Amino acid sequence: MATEEENVGNARQQLAKLFEVSLRRIVPDEQDVAPVIAASTGKFGDYQCNNAMGLWSKIKGKGSEFRGPPSVGQAIMKNLPDSEIIESCSVAGPGFVNVVLSKKWLAKRIQKMLIDGIEKWAPQLPIKRAVVDFSSPNIAKEMHVGHLRSTIIGDTLARILEFSNVEVLRRNHVGDWGTQFGMLIEFLFEKFPNIEDVNESAIGDLQAFYKASKQRFDDDPAFKERAQRAVVSLQGGEPLYRNAWLKICEISRKEFHKVYERLGVHLEEKGESFYNPYIPGVLKELSDKGLIEESQGARVIFLEGFNIPLIVVKSDGGFNYASTDLAALWYRLNEEKADWIIYVTDVGQQQHFNMFFEAAKRAGWLPTDGALKPKVTHVGFGLVLGEDGKRFRTRSSEVVRLVDLLDEAKDRSKKVLVERGWTEQELNQIAEAVGYGAVKYADLKNNRLTNYTFDFDQMLSDKGNTAVYLLYAHARICSIIRKSGKNIDELKQTGEIVLDHDGERELGLHLLQFSENVEETCTNLLPNVLCEYLYNLSEVFTKKFYSNCQVVGSREETSRLLLCEATAIVMRKCFNLLGIEPVYKI
Ligand code: ARG
Repeated sequence: MATEEENVGNARQQLAKLFEVSLRRIVPDEQDVAPVIAASTGKFGDYQCNNAMGLWSKIKGKGSEFRGPPSVGQAIMKNLPDSEIIESCSVAGPGFVNVVLSKKWLAKRIQKMLIDGIEKWAPQLPIKRAVVDFSSPNIAKEMHVGHLRSTIIGDTLARILEFSNVEVLRRNHVGDWGTQFGMLIEFLFEKFPNIEDVNESAIGDLQAFYKASKQRFDDDPAFKERAQRAVVSLQGGEPLYRNAWLKICEISRKEFHKVYERLGVHLEEKGESFYNPYIPGVLKELSDKGLIEESQGARVIFLEGFNIPLIVVKSDGGFNYASTDLAALWYRLNEEKADWIIYVTDVGQQQHFNMFFEAAKRAGWLPTDGALKPKVTHVGFGLVLGEDGKRFRTRSSEVVRLVDLLDEAKDRSKKVLVERGWTEQELNQIAEAVGYGAVKYADLKNNRLTNYTFDFDQMLSDKGNTAVYLLYAHARICSIIRKSGKNIDELKQTGEIVLDHDGERELGLHLLQFSENVEETCTNLLPNVLCEYLYNLSEVFTKKFYSNCQVVGSREETSRLLLCEATAIVMRKCFNLLGIEPVYKI
């Protein structure tokens, strides 16, 4: 339901339109010159247009009237159409055109957002439907911190796309198929001769069950043989085996669900098994296109730029991770008609993705002519490290159970909060918001490609760039508004925002830049961009605005309360996009 209405709250986009007109005027014959507009960091303006140098190198020697980049910059500036957006312009250095936005216009935009809602500031993306493939743990195996990262990052990306009016299919591509199920099923039969006895409490810890069955598999050749036959029976659809498989999946699923519930993450499971029936047809298509070859008993696709081939049928005739992913991609493109498919896994799997993406291009499923859609992206992320700098483990070097980890986050945040006299229920609610929020934010604020160290003390600190600090900052703004005793909804309709003070203007500008930051987060799939924006917003509010501009009891009270409210709204939207529950009281 992409709205056709343009997002007038996006200053960069609005300026791009003005500069586009100017560029057309000065170089009507240059067709492919797109305006390059960026937010400025210097003090000469709020935005700058960076086209002059590039344009000069295109037109010099073609007998134009210009003498160099600065004169091109001058011409760009002079040919700008009149607009209420711009207060003033200047040309600096080698032709940068600096723009100072009109503070009246800024104020108007913010005021309009207060009335129409922040949804009007959603970026517009050229995408209708996206698949976000995330979390995706493996049945009967541990769901580890890597899956936690995938869950947190994937959920945020899905939320941001949804906010941007993209229809998102949130896919849990669980590993629910493969040869390990033969072993698990045989072991289940041994332990529970009557399958009806199988339930969560009877099995206990599914990971321990997995380990024990693996042990059995490795130790006893007869068991191993039975397990291998069980795979064939399962794949042949024999009811007894299928039932056992369903039971195992169900127990795992309940475990996963506990994590999703705590995190407030919604996913739709379409596991590997779902795509299994599609594999033969997809491989036939690839084979008919001449992509598949025999190699050492396996069937493979050789791809340029990779020193190993992509195996699509193993030498024992079985399908694998890659065959499933090819079928899933086919399904997502052809049946689900997604125009952007995003996969969130650790960077260790990058080669796998690059290879089957390349195969999909060779098959003609994905464009190779520079067309932008449909597209696929692997969103890789780094490791979670313990305080010792090694992979995050428990003291006894076991994999950390995610439910335990989240419980600890909640308990620890309770301790930080405990002295403030809440009811038990309030305390629990706030401890969850703060504890889980802290875990999420500590993950999201780093560039996802880097490894990060999991450190409870640091993430639960109320100082520095943490969720706790930000949640407190938001609660404080809410309390300013509450304490004023004014009806803020009424003020939104009747009051007026004025940005005369530097602190007010800076806050106003930063608020307006929400939209382009969300857009950047989305196009580059980098949640840390949004985190940085949120942190800076809170800093600008406190250090530039609140410490210089008295709110309650001042002459500008109405305008300033509205700025507080706008800040709280934008912060809450950021929290919401990051999957963090806001807190209103501290
Ligand atoms: N189950 C895989 C793992 O735990 C992740 C699956 C990611 N998605 C995909 N379509 N390959 O590593």
